[in-house]
Amino acid sequence: MAKKQIDIVAKEMGLDENIKKYLKRVERSLIVSIPIIMDNGKLEVFEGYRVHHSTVRGPGKGGIRYSKDVFLDEVKALAMWMTWKNSLLKLPLGGAKGGVCVDPTKLSRNELERLTRRYTAEIINMIGPDIDIPAPDINTNPQIMAWIMDVYSMQKGKSVPGVVTGKPIEIGGSVGRETATGMGLYFILEALCMKLNLNLKYLSVVIQGFGNVGGNIAQILYEKGVKIVAVSDISGGLYDAGGLNIKELIDWRDQNHLLEEFDKKENEFVNNEEILEIECDILIPAAIENQITESNVDNINCQIIIEGANGPTTPEADEILKDRGIIVVPDILANAGGVCVSYFEYIQDIHSYFWKLDRINLELKNVLLEAFEEVYTLSKEKKVTLRIAAYMIAISRLSKAIELRGIFP
Ligand SMILES: NC(=O)c1ccc[n+]([C@@H]2O[C@H](COP(=O)([O-])OP(=O)(O)OC[C@H]3O[C@@H](n4cnc5c(N)ncnc54)[C@H](O)[C@@H]3O)[C@@H](O)[C@H]2O)c1
Repeated sequence: MAKKQIDIVAKEMGLDENIKKYLKRVERSLIVSIPIIMDNGKLEVFEGYRVHHSTVRGPGKGGIRYSKDVFLDEVKALAMWMTWKNSLLKLPLGGAKGGVCVDPTKLSRNELERLTRRYTAEIINMIGPDIDIPAPDINTNPQIMAWIMDVYSMQKGKSVPGVVTGKPIEIGGSVGRETATGMGLYFILEALCMKLNLNLKYLSVVIQGFGNVGGNIAQILYEKGVKIVAVSDISGGLYDAGGLNIKELIDWRDQNHLLEEFDKKENEFVNNEEILEIECDILIPAAIENQITESNVDNINCQIIIEGANGPTTPEADEILKDRGIIVVPDILANAGGVCVSYFEYIQDIHSYFWKLDRINLELKNVLLEAFEEVYTLSKEKKVTLRIAAYMIAISRLSKAIELRGIFP
């Protein structure tokens, strides 16, 4: 899917064949075995990955995902998408990603800590503030980032907060990082509505995924008085045409409950396929990739899709959505708030000087709106989708950097 996207954009922009060949490959990928003594005394061995797609524009940057379904090619695609995202935002960073093939809900806290520490030790030569800076992704969080920072720091004999972002505030994290992806998505959505003369207050929203990204955008929109008619997590979701009480659902989630266990007296239960097909104005896929595909795209019933997750729409579905006049705001723009504030965290760590929330949100808004304007203008000028326009900008910038540096040796 990631490679297909390059082909489509390369054709559209007349990209040099050599650059295309170069960009389709990752710079390096590492597969590691992670042996852990479980609490019952038995040994389990997990598989982990770290991939650098490109470090041409700066150190690698991208999250670490814990999931029983994660596999190397997925991590490579996710690393590639990080390269485009950082280039689109003009951040001086490349693209990387990591993952461990594990269902973390089956581990105790001690097992999770041992797994994280050993995984970090295994990938230690591939990470560092000027090499590659990991961050949270699916099923990873500030505590896991703290353990990674600790292992790295112990090896270096000094505290190195800049090795990861998304850390707790107490050890060099940034205010606004946890909500950054949701906040960024909101800024982009607001800007798009202005262009389309739509008032968010009169629109209905469906959100797939109720974790960091989905939960935060739900909360932000709910507090602004926007009607959210459905949300879901891995267990399925809840629907109410009159609008859900998001505060109640967030409290429920924060007590470690799944949505399927929520008292459904007032809401209707929907499964993970149904949620995407609910009639609404704005659909926000914010769970995992490959959700809107050839097989369900005809049943998508919205005006705008804004991609909170990475890669939720396949290229085949994209074509059909374009023909149906559904606007898709691509992941590399829509969810870029996370990496943007991660970058702010990284520079705050390097300078040992920490910003206030107002400054974070103001600078985040500036960076994202500049990218949004550039993408929107190019899409109108070239009569292409927002995704193609975003890719054209990101890949041109990268292509110029490769040209200037040359191909070693
Ligand atoms: N966290 C960030 O800052 C950030 C930034 C940019 C992009 N993203 C992307 O956003 C997406 C969500 O990340 P997150 O950080 O919110 O993760 P998370 O673990 O906090 O939340 C994931 C949500 O998706 C649900 N989910 C997981 N697997 C699912 C499945 N198979 N089917 C349906 N629902 C499923 C989970 O139950 C949960 O509600 C990912 O694609 C991630 O790469 C995250």
